[in-house]
Amino acid sequence: MSTIPPYGDEGQLYQRDRAWHPPADTPGYKSTALRAPRQALLALGQTKSELTGPTFGHGIIQPLDNDLIRNFSQDGSEAIGQRMIVYGQVLDENARPVRGTLVEFWQANAGGRYRHKREGYVAALDPNFGGCGRAITDDNGYYHFRTIKPGAYPWPNGGNDWRPAHIHFSVFGHAFAQRLITQMYFEGDPMIWQDPIALAIPDRAAVEQLIARLDRYNTTPMDALAYRFDIVLRGRRSTLFENRMEGN
Ligand SMILES: [Fe+2]
Repeated sequence: MSTIPPYGDEGQLYQRDRAWHPPADTPGYKSTALRAPRQALLALGQTKSELTGPTFGHGIIQPLDNDLIRNFSQDGSEAIGQRMIVYGQVLDENARPVRGTLVEFWQANAGGRYRHKREGYVAALDPNFGGCGRAITDDNGYYHFRTIKPGAYPWPNGGNDWRPAHIHFSVFGHAFAQRLITQMYFEGDPMIWQDPIALAIPDRAAVEQLIARLDRYNTTPMDALAYRFDIVLRGRRSTLFENRMEGN
């Protein structure tokens, strides 16, 4: 269980509960062998620059930033794939909505291919799909965006490992020190339970919190499915975060 030091009033930070995280060196997820620290971790004191900001105005968001179906369109066509809405609420460690915060997301296309110069998967690029977007949470902490369902893709981890369909997320809390990265999976996908990255998480409940739920009540009829993915920044109900930038 987390220790909860009193850092201040609004925006106080709770220590991360590391028992909730996968071990830094997880043999099934091979690249962790090189990333894992070899020395004991040191705790650094937090200064005002970590404990304050950032603040985001809605003015930084362009109208199509939360529409991945259209925000990279080259010829006016929409992205190819199963259309869907992803939405949810960002909550802090005390279950308060985190309003006005920046949520960023990036994903592979419907064939499982990223638009990235180091991407080597054989699946075709969709010329009208960029694969990234952003949104600002509203007064109740909700974000939403429209996209297509990403495809699963193979990755060079073992002989034949595949990532389940997923979307990468970055979210800020009340302070810079709360910027966190995670991945969202899809309800009912059996590949989650064969994924070396998801299986690196020791607690099944922590994996379950990374799975978006199909929400038939918020579909757009004859257009898009809906998935709900709530994000809890810290505390005992925290979403599990990787705390690193690059995706796999
Ligand atoms: Fe990925």
